[in-house]
Amino acid sequence: MAKLKKAVFPVAGFGSRFLPVTKASPKEMMPVVDKPLIQYAVEEAAAAGITDMIFVTGRHKRAIEDHFDKAYELETELERKGKEALLQQVRSVLPEGVRCIYIRQPEPLGLGHAVLCAQPVVGDDPFAVLLADDLMDSQPPALARMAAIFEREQCSLLGVEEVPSDQTESYGIVTIDAMQDDTARMRAIVEKPKPAQAPSNLAVIGRYVLTPRIFQLLAAVTPGAGGEIQLTDAISAMLSHERALAVRLPGRRFDCGSKLGYLQATVELGVRHPEVGAAFTRYLKSR
Ligand code: UTP
Repeated sequence: MAKLKKAVFPVAGFGSRFLPVTKASPKEMMPVVDKPLIQYAVEEAAAAGITDMIFVTGRHKRAIEDHFDKAYELETELERKGKEALLQQVRSVLPEGVRCIYIRQPEPLGLGHAVLCAQPVVGDDPFAVLLADDLMDSQPPALARMAAIFEREQCSLLGVEEVPSDQTESYGIVTIDAMQDDTARMRAIVEKPKPAQAPSNLAVIGRYVLTPRIFQLLAAVTPGAGGEIQLTDAISAMLSHERALAVRLPGRRFDCGSKLGYLQATVELGVRHPEVGAAFTRYLKSR
């Protein structure tokens, strides 16, 4: 029985909806309160038992590499000043027992292409894909739920969520059998259908578990709209070879790739933050 040990984080997109902030630094390094989006995703993966964190990076890879690297000078300085709490925070950025691997996507040719770039490291193992701009706020963590289902089912899984019918054009949309215990067999998937053509309002969100067959299917995908190699096309091809399940994930998702979702995440996590939560709540009520 295969266990999930590897996760791929595609972080090579342009992040054009957040320009100019994404001009010189990756979208995934944007903070929600005091942690960058990518750290939330890595912590979620670690909580699901993932040990190999594989980042598919683009032009601005330095910031992400440096974030998860040991910061000798900073640690020495905090130690010297006796700032124990901050020192602990800096040291715990990378969860214990995990390692980071970086691969370059030479050109942002789409999410599918980014995933394909991870093949040399993933090899013949099943793996998770986490899009850090979907911040999952849930206990137990969303990917832990998927890892548990994967252990039982040993097939590909896609995180899904109902979206308003007028938003289907922003997502991959799935057709499924009846849900049982928040999981259902997938029958079809289409990328960004117009509301009138959408087969449902069940949207794929940024959490996947994929079997390694996806690589050979991705290699055969021809670029779609905008010249991008779409992950959705390879998953669609996979459905004629293998069973795959849609999983309705627990908790709340914040679409931090959009300005509104990002601000909502900041407010929700801000009011719960141990250090500033109470004062921030008072501020919100007073204004
Ligand atoms: P998005 O569709 O959100 O694209 O990518 P984007 O470039 O990040 O943002 P916008 O739409 O221009 O504002 C979904 C995920 O796939 C990654 C992104 O980094 C993001 O995590 N991605 C996308 C790649 O790694 N490579 C690509 O070629 C495209």
